[in-house]
Amino acid sequence: MNLNVRTRRSKQVVAWMVVCIFLLGFFYSPVGAWTGPILGAWFVGTQRLRRGFLWMLGFAVLFGLPHLWRHLPQGSPAALATYACWTLLALVLSVLPFTFYRMAGTHLPGFLSTLSLPLYGVAFMTIASACLPAGTAVSHTQGLNRALLQLGAVFGVSAMVFLVNWIAAVTVWMWNHEFRAALIRRGASVSAAACALAVGFGLLRQLRGDALPLALPVGAAFAWVCVAGAVALSGWVFFRSGKDRGWKCSPEALSILRSPATSEPLHLVRQGDGEVLISSSGERFPIRAGIADLRRPEDLTGFNQKYNHLYETIGGFYDDTQRVVCALTGIDRDAYVMSYLGLLEVKPGDSVLETSVGTGLNFKYLPPGVRLCGIDLAREMLANCQSNLRRWRLQADLFLGNAESLPFADSSFDVVFHVGGINFFNDRAKAIREMIRVARPGSRILIADETEEHVKASFERAPITGGYFRNRKEPVAAPVDLVPPEMLETHVEILNVVGKNRFYALTFRKPATDSSGTKAEALKAGE
Ligand SMILES: C[S@@+](CC[C@H](N)C(=O)[O-])C[C@H]1O[C@@H](n2cnc3c(N)ncnc32)[C@H](O)[C@@H]1O
Repeated sequence: MNLNVRTRRSKQVVAWMVVCIFLLGFFYSPVGAWTGPILGAWFVGTQRLRRGFLWMLGFAVLFGLPHLWRHLPQGSPAALATYACWTLLALVLSVLPFTFYRMAGTHLPGFLSTLSLPLYGVAFMTIASACLPAGTAVSHTQGLNRALLQLGAVFGVSAMVFLVNWIAAVTVWMWNHEFRAALIRRGASVSAAACALAVGFGLLRQLRGDALPLALPVGAAFAWVCVAGAVALSGWVFFRSGKDRGWKCSPEALSILRSPATSEPLHLVRQGDGEVLISSSGERFPIRAGIADLRRPEDLTGFNQKYNHLYETIGGFYDDTQRVVCALTGIDRDAYVMSYLGLLEVKPGDSVLETSVGTGLNFKYLPPGVRLCGIDLAREMLANCQSNLRRWRLQADLFLGNAESLPFADSSFDVVFHVGGINFFNDRAKAIREMIRVARPGSRILIADETEEHVKASFERAPITGGYFRNRKEPVAAPVDLVPPEMLETHVEILNVVGKNRFYALTFRKPATDSSGTKAEALKAGE
């Protein structure tokens, strides 16, 4: 049976318009003054801290080159070297607001997180103005848009830098929350009020002949208030980061946790500053950045290693790529995801395991009141999953591990499913046997992934993924032949999305009589 997913033309038109505006920003500075900080704020959020900083610095040098070239001093090599040093410092100071915003964002609740970018933006601009020689490039926003600067002249440049950065942070915040109606109302109305205030003051100033006595003192005070705010915020973030580092695992998850090698129960032990999971035979699994790492060296070999490299690289872009591709091709993403998740049998109170959970995109489509658990081989994907869960206010137990040797006791979950990774596992049969082993007897299991048609048409052609998917020895196919014959109701659906067979969804039921330990052992051994 084929399942059809409908298209959303209006969203598609809006998506293409937004793309055009962002492209225009690269060539026309009054637009770039808005789209630049939005892209910067979005980009740092997709990257680890150091990598994000270095990339942003690279972009700043690249986009600043014409300006730097124009102002290149004529004269001795010493003058050139001094110019280069000051310029590099100026560029670093223009990138640091984004880095600090990235650092602070994860520790600040909700809409409040949007305030860190404008605070750091003004703070670093003020520091740069105080330290750098006159004429050194200070920040993109400052150089880009004179009209904008005139508009908010009453509070000085800092008010404009604050406003532009804040609107960028609010836009990225709304994007990350998928522009849900209530959030759009809140974000848009606060931003609109701030813009109206700035425009009002600008007009007032023009009407009164450019000589409002308040202008300068207020501007300077505002800038230094932002510096003080940024320092206070950094202190608070430093204090919070110590608190947020611990591992949050539910007692239920801890009780079903087993060593992926020996199946022995694991115990949480404090060790120095951190925590570690230990089995009775002395195996140790570390907990790093709030995630238990249950991978063994043999898990990262062959295909698993090859594709792990891909997901560690694109982890930060994964969700956005999915959303942008769906929007530009007109796919209704909710309908798309529900076309396969709708095949699950989930009731409130159920414990649900997703193997290869990635960034947790499927979790928000599950009914409320279920206990969520996810395992994945890529740390970067799980780090983004943690951020998503915070954003969606969902709780889930996350583990770094191999879906081919699940670190859980037999029959631990009411619902077990997998989406999007199995095509390229080292051992698909083993992964399926493991899903069956940890599923409650009588439960339905779902395995969904891309069809060969889709892999060929999209992943093989895309710039970053192409190298990973071209020249494969075998085409991908729904692993129906790997489902053990004793499973019931084995069935495959093909999901047709915008005229293409994009996904397969394989379902089967674990027999309800499978309660004996012998049967579970047999599944684990692959008999
Ligand atoms: C395309 S993503 C799908 C993520 C998520 N299920 C979704 O639907 O958005 C594939 C995921 O499979 C994970 N993966 C690949 N091989 C794995 C393995 N052997 N064990 C566990 N996860 C694996 C990758 O790290 C990646 O996060």
